[in-house]
Amino acid sequence: MSSKHDLDSEARAILSKNDRGGYTVPTARLYPYQWNWDSAFVALGFATFDVARAWRELELLAEGQWASGMIPHILFRQNDPDYFPGPTTWQTPDAEQGGGRMPTGGISQPPVYASIVRELYEQTGNDNKAQVLFDVAYRFNKWFIAERTAQDMNVIATVHPWETGRDNCPDWDGGLAGMDVDPELEHYTRKDTQHADASQRPSSEQYDKYISIVKYGRDTGWNQRTLTDSGPFLVADPGLHFMLLRANRDLLWLANTLGHSDDVRAEITDWIAAGESGAQELWNTDVQAFCAKDLRSGEFSDGFSNASALCFYAGVGTPEQQDATRLHIERIGKKAQFLLPSWDPDHASFEQQRYWKGPLWPQMNYIVAKGLAESGYNVLAERMRTDLAAVIKRSGFRECFDPMTGDGCIGTDFSWTAALWLAWASDSRYSNPKTKRAF
Ligand code: DGY
Repeated sequence: MSSKHDLDSEARAILSKNDRGGYTVPTARLYPYQWNWDSAFVALGFATFDVARAWRELELLAEGQWASGMIPHILFRQNDPDYFPGPTTWQTPDAEQGGGRMPTGGISQPPVYASIVRELYEQTGNDNKAQVLFDVAYRFNKWFIAERTAQDMNVIATVHPWETGRDNCPDWDGGLAGMDVDPELEHYTRKDTQHADASQRPSSEQYDKYISIVKYGRDTGWNQRTLTDSGPFLVADPGLHFMLLRANRDLLWLANTLGHSDDVRAEITDWIAAGESGAQELWNTDVQAFCAKDLRSGEFSDGFSNASALCFYAGVGTPEQQDATRLHIERIGKKAQFLLPSWDPDHASFEQQRYWKGPLWPQMNYIVAKGLAESGYNVLAERMRTDLAAVIKRSGFRECFDPMTGDGCIGTDFSWTAALWLAWASDSRYSNPKTKRAF
């Protein structure tokens, strides 16, 4: 077994190896571009040894921001034949991308950007960087609310499982079952299964539907409101909803600290109020948890996910709802050796090594634990940190981990795992009073 200092150096080496000149790929070959929420979490890792490089990661992510404010899920700075679907499949319009700076995906990803800007600002006190990136985050959050709020509801919904970051979670099964594969779908060849174990990746049936939604978006010229109002898939997502609500709270903190106008602060305050009331639309009384809801059929997803556990991070839920959520986490903690699985091990759809149907995810552990600690559940939060540290020590810097055995899954030398080791889980960081994060 490696010593803790070996792991610190190894984590820094992974970030350097995956650095493509100011931005970081999640891992070589399997994900050879800049991904939205990956990059945001990666900045926290760089901040532990190169603060300027941490800000640079966020600045380069901002280069992909569309004129509309959307930060896309992938920035294609060059065409890499190792990845599908690349820029020739997405065909996003040049005009949207800040004047054709680079091709991108046509959907977004969890909007943690404002929260990471706040963290970097709190660590560095760099007003100039925070002011510039405040505007990026403000326009991004505004875009999310304008384009992904379902009509007549204050709940954030997604048009594509990839936008949630939780690609093949059973939360999307109802929405995917309710849509057809486009009969004119072009022939395509998956690349992910050439770089990773196919049994740990989404199924081909799921991929046909993922690509059908891409085709729909492409055929509308990536008209985001059409995608949300009339696209093949629309599911309200506790993950996106809670991360955006938290991002709006962090944006308001930045607006107050950086001295933004009353109008801007009032606007963000309204977004927060809407997010708080909208959260109640996601409460599933049968499961006693915040769950995804297929807005085309009105049906709830019927399982507890690691996104359900983000209500603490978002600061929502009645005392009874938060208590029920904590009980789910404690029950799961008795069944799984390592918290927190992405899907309930007591549910029939649980698969311990298949991507978002079971594995433990480092970045989700970080934000769930942060919310738990802020709510006073320090023992559970600390277990999530030590469990992440334990699986990294056992299996290395993998993309995600089997929560029953601690085995590593899918990608190797993974950037966000290295980053969250350095920023949060590492023993050396935790045992040093100067760097220990109390959240
Ligand atoms: C992938 O290719 O698996 C990504 O998650 C899509 O963003």
